[in-house]
Order: sequence, then structure tokens, then C-alpha cells
Amino acid sequence: MSSSTSARSEGRQPILSLRKVSKNFGAVAALTDIDLDVYPGEVVALVGDNGAGKSTLIKTLAGAHSPTSGSILFEGKEVVMEGPSAALELGIATVFQDLALCENLDVVANIFLGQEKSPWHMNETEMEVTSWTLLNELAARIPSVRDVVASLSGGQRQTVAIARSLLSNPKIIMLDEPTAALGVAQTAEVLNLVERVKAKGLGVIMISHNMQDVRAIADRVVVLRLGKNNGVFPADASNEVLIGAITGATDNAVSRRAKRLAEADNKVEELQ
Ligand SMILES: Nc1ncnc2c1ncn2[C@@H]1O[C@H](COP(=O)(O)OP(=O)(O)OP(=O)(O)O)[C@@H](O)[C@H]1O
Ligand SMILES: [Mg+2]
Repeated sequence: MSSSTSARSEGRQPILSLRKVSKNFGAVAALTDIDLDVYPGEVVALVGDNGAGKSTLIKTLAGAHSPTSGSILFEGKEVVMEGPSAALELGIATVFQDLALCENLDVVANIFLGQEKSPWHMNETEMEVTSWTLLNELAARIPSVRDVVASLSGGQRQTVAIARSLLSNPKIIMLDEPTAALGVAQTAEVLNLVERVKAKGLGVIMISHNMQDVRAIADRVVVLRLGKNNGVFPADASNEVLIGAITGATDNAVSRRAKRLAEADNKVEELQ
């Protein structure tokens, strides 16, 4: 049983629920009647082909787009988010794909960047300590918080962006393809980090095109296709099933290959 199933059977309340959320851009229906629940301490992978509506969904939840129709509930109460700062105040933080870090500033400055309404009024030392604390909580591997971002690897940058998103103590964080540009070791590091965020009790929504990453980290896999829900699967769903839901076809080169591999695996198991 996945942890999300147990979360539901324990009668816990989702942090975030979407009911019949649609978003149109003129004649383009980017999202149609999307339902989604995210519980505390679970990772929901959001998958789908290019143009499926993943980023639109994230942007809608981040307050960057307002839904054309439908409702968003946060901790059981319907909310209307009038922009990104409203989403953040509510407790929904987002790490967009471009990370929006400043190359020439150090890690501390980047973590505190753009906190227009600084409730912290911290001096440099306090900011440095807070940055270290955040990064330590994530067991992040950053040599020095005084390093400029330009000198960091892709995985370390992702780490800084995630740490920054945690600064406001959110209940949900959304990651748009956090491992897209990373090598194997750095991907593993970022996935570890996501696990730690989950262990803190946050709900995580992660967009990914990489089924291996999805399988490694997700409690549930939500498939979007052409802007609509096209199934919710456990993380151990076969590649064939997931690819079928993503592409809408059960017979294509990728699913045939997955099927061949699965059959080969079964044969090996039978021989053992
Ligand atoms: N600001 C916009 N104006 C008009 N159409 C848009 C806008 N944003 C997204 N769309 C359209 O909405 C649909 C969904 O796009 P979206 O970017 O959400 O897809 P995606 O699943 O994130 O794809 P990808 O995997 O390529 O990032 C597409 O048809 C896209 O062209
Ligand atoms: Mg996208």
C-alpha cells in the first residue's frame, strides 16, 4: 500500500485539493476538469507529454494563472489566489524550471533573494546561519554558502533553489523537472533532497519526464494527457502502463520495448 493510500485510509485531510479545475488560453483548453489531491508527506509525480498541461497546472497553483473554472481547496477551504505572493503566503512554494537564481550572487543572497516582504529583518550573519541550517536540514552538499552560484553544479543550484523555497515554511512545494538537466549522481542527490522534504511532512508535486526518477521517489503518479486527468497510478506501475496513459496508446515503440523488457524479466524470474 502506498503511503498516500494509507494517508487517505487514516482519514487525513489533503493539504491541497483541486476540483474540476480548467484553464483556457483563448481557444486553447490547456486544462480541463482537473482533480488532484496532495496529502502531507507524499510525493505526487505529475507526468504527461509535451503540452499536456503540467506547467500550466503548476503555474495555476503557484498563483501565476487564475483558473477559468473549478475550485482549489487548501486545507479544506476554498481559496482564490490573486498572484504568486498569495500562493506563497498560503504555503504553496514553487521551484520553476529555470530556478531564477542570480549567477553573480552567493548562496546566502540567493536564498534570501526576492523576499520583498522580509519578515526576518536579519543581518548578514543571521542570514548565513539560516542558510546553513536550511541546507543542513536537507543534508545538502554545498561547500560554502559564500560561494557564488556561478561556481555551483546543476545539482547544487537545484538544492539552493529548493532551500530558498523552504524559507517561507510552505506546506506544499512544487518542482518543475528538478532533475531534467542533471547527471546520475546529481539526480540521486536531488531525489534524496526531495525525500527529506517529504519526511518533513510537506506535500511535494514533482513534474518529471523521467520514469526512473518518478518510480524512485513518487507515492503516486498522476498522468495528464491533453489537459485532462488520464489516470492515477502507484509508483510501481509498469512502464508500459505509464507510457500507455501518457501517450494514449498502448502500442508504440516505447511500450513495446517496455513489454519486451518486462517479459525478459519475468523469464529470468521463472528461471531462478
Ligand atoms: N500562456 C499561454 N498562452 C497560450 N497558450 C498556452 C500558454 N501556456 C500554455 N499554453 C498552452 O497550453 C498547453 C499546455 O501547455 P503546458 O506548458 O502546460 O504543457 P506541459 O505539459 O508543461 O508541456 P512540456 O512538457 O512541454 O513542458 C499547450 O497547448 C500550450 O501551448
Ligand atoms: Mg512544462
